[in-house]
Amino acid sequence: MGFGADGTVSVKRGNPWRQVPAGPLIAPSLLASDFTRVGEQIDTLDRAGAELLHLDIMDGHFAPNLSMGPRFVASVRKHTPLPLDVHLMLTDPATYIERFAEAGADTITFHVEATDEPRRLIERLRELGLGAGLTLRPGTPAETLRDAVADVDLVLVMTVEPGYGGQEFMDNMLEKIAAVRGMLDRAQRLEVDGGIDPRTARRCAARGADVFVAGTDILGSDDIPRAVRLLREAVAGAGLAPGR
Ligand code: DX5
Ligand code: ZN
Repeated sequence: MGFGADGTVSVKRGNPWRQVPAGPLIAPSLLASDFTRVGEQIDTLDRAGAELLHLDIMDGHFAPNLSMGPRFVASVRKHTPLPLDVHLMLTDPATYIERFAEAGADTITFHVEATDEPRRLIERLRELGLGAGLTLRPGTPAETLRDAVADVDLVLVMTVEPGYGGQEFMDNMLEKIAAVRGMLDRAQRLEVDGGIDPRTARRCAARGADVFVAGTDILGSDDIPRAVRLLREAVAGAGLAPGR
């Protein structure tokens, strides 16, 4: 990471979606981590084969909770080479993109409900050399993505309301997952987030999801490597699109 002549941030890690292995990916959500032992837990997740770390950023407005900020992301960045998948649940994502890029995010996903100019924000993420993702609340129809969906690396379909870990998976999101998969090309990823465990992950995978965020299921377990393995086994070959 460096600063251009005009002081803008330049990030040199590259878009992780062009580097991660093919096939289903496991992205543990650090919202469920024990913040007093997060470094140790990250090392356990890395040894267990997690491909990404999911970091939930909430502002108490867009989502009714406060979680973590750029300083936490920078500490995680210093601690691990794992790609950081930053999920912005902010009323004003445009104001914070550079801050999280500077902190070490590799890919940033923002809510389509939180901006009138999603394509402009995606362009800025590209200028920073980051991965770009769009996400939507459970109540927001997939069609809302139409204008900008071709420009992103991934779409994150929220399977719970933004705000907390440990919520129940919303079955009525399965139809939306299939609809969003239909809007994406083969190179684009479909991430699911909220109430993901081996049973719900398998149902999502059968509809085209291939990136699985899990907080409680993995970091709430007393055997993290086993939890990661069970999740990976549940999505392996579960009707994934050919070549994934
Ligand atoms: C919720 C967050 C999720 C959450 C997932 O707003 O976006 O990433 O941490 O946690 P679990 O897997 O416990 O539902
Ligand atoms: Zn999330």
